[in-house]
Amino acid sequence: MKKLYIETVGCQMNLLDSELVVAALRKEGYELTGQAADADTVLFNTCSVRQHAEDKIYSALGRLKEAKRSMPDKVIGVMGCMAQKDQKLIFSRAPFVDIVVGPGQLHQVPQLVREAREKPGQQRLEVSLGRTDGKVDDIKRSHESFDPLRDPTMRPTPFQAFVRIQIGCDKFCTYCIVPSVRGPEQSRPPSHILAEARQLASEGCKEICLLGQTVNSWRHTEDGRAWRFSDLLYALHEIEGIERLRFVTSYPRDMTDDVLEAVRDLPKCVKYLHVPAQHGSDEQLRRMKRGYTVAEYREMHDRAKRWMPDVAITSDFIVGFSGETEEDFQQTMDLVRECRFKNSFIFKYSERPGTKAANRLPDDVPEEVKRRRNNELLALQNEISEEDNHKFLGKRVEVLVEGPSKTAVRNLERADANAPLTGPLQLTGRTMCDRIVVFDGNPRQIGQTLSIAIYDVNLHTLFGAVVTEHVGPEVFTLAGV
Ligand code: 5AD
Ligand code: SF4
Repeated sequence: MKKLYIETVGCQMNLLDSELVVAALRKEGYELTGQAADADTVLFNTCSVRQHAEDKIYSALGRLKEAKRSMPDKVIGVMGCMAQKDQKLIFSRAPFVDIVVGPGQLHQVPQLVREAREKPGQQRLEVSLGRTDGKVDDIKRSHESFDPLRDPTMRPTPFQAFVRIQIGCDKFCTYCIVPSVRGPEQSRPPSHILAEARQLASEGCKEICLLGQTVNSWRHTEDGRAWRFSDLLYALHEIEGIERLRFVTSYPRDMTDDVLEAVRDLPKCVKYLHVPAQHGSDEQLRRMKRGYTVAEYREMHDRAKRWMPDVAITSDFIVGFSGETEEDFQQTMDLVRECRFKNSFIFKYSERPGTKAANRLPDDVPEEVKRRRNNELLALQNEISEEDNHKFLGKRVEVLVEGPSKTAVRNLERADANAPLTGPLQLTGRTMCDRIVVFDGNPRQIGQTLSIAIYDVNLHTLFGAVVTEHVGPEVFTLAGV
């Protein structure tokens, strides 16, 4: 058995890509290890959205220099967005790297690893065409979606799966590197998506999470029928065995009535929408080229809440983007106060070379101002998240049990990792509105949907106990005594 170490940063798309690459390499006789030092192959699946994510990978690579010297046949590979963005630069910054593979070439990883092992010393670079490097069709073709037939035993949990429905992005927000590294927006045909979902269901998968950079912008014409994203939700909803459907990330302008109606009317659709607003000031949204005004975002948000009072909406925000004044920033604070998001992911603006913002707009907000605004917005959001979680105290929620809680995982890691899971165990799962719930249970309950009574909450988590239904007259007579 050869050993594979893989480190993944970034979004859900990267998590799925890593899962599929691991599955492909397992077929070649690899097993996973948690130690890069003694692995035969070390892979990094990378992200370019912010500078910080890249710095982390370059320092991790730096730490491998010695390991490669003492174990020269160790294969070191860099995959994903940073591979596409930096290409040969990776070889010059880390000359001991063997392979660099963009997100559009992941199907080639097993072969590239094999070749690197057979012919050491030859560096291999496989990436897609840049956005201006040829005809649109050639560029599109060079970004191949990696969606091989799945082997169910190789998924982290058998009852949950990501399904990619779209690759790339055409929105070109001025700050964002994604359209240049992940290429043009391309939708997967509905017949492929449905076939994959049916196969997953037949293998016991209960929850499907649809993935796309702007997932609700998905549309596809197949055999003369024009499909909208909402049509796809209705079709997936029909699949027997699938209990929950979720999707990330949504683009505000494409959150049309038909999508909201589908989420409202389809019982399997999780009442959770991740719709990044990015900013609360029109001037900033214009400079970001987001394609909507704050009033339009508010209208979409209010419509969703009106139609589904229990819907959980989450957002992303960037602070310290080019030209952001204190007044602009306060408008973001106002939007958060008003919308009371379940949660917000807050990022300090990080200038990305090659983007429109890097070329045309100065990165002119000082670092300490970015940091202060980040902290202020986070404190406000945390206050809101905790207040809203308090509303669950004493309530019952339906939880799809995902597995051992973080604490239980840590304890299991300390104990014998190979021992079978038995006996009492702290578990975690999610409600229909995407709240994380932690409770005491047992391993048999993993994958089940349970009713949990909530007795405590904090910022990110609800704590509860499994509700055991006592059916029988004695329960009722006792209550009357
Ligand atoms: N700087 C900071 N945050 C960014 N994001 C995207 N590009 C940048 C950047 N250059 C954030 C956006 C997006 C999330 C995934 O990352 O908020 O929604
Ligand atoms: Fe980036 Fe905007 Fe596309 Fe999201 S919608 S991936 S922020 S360009």
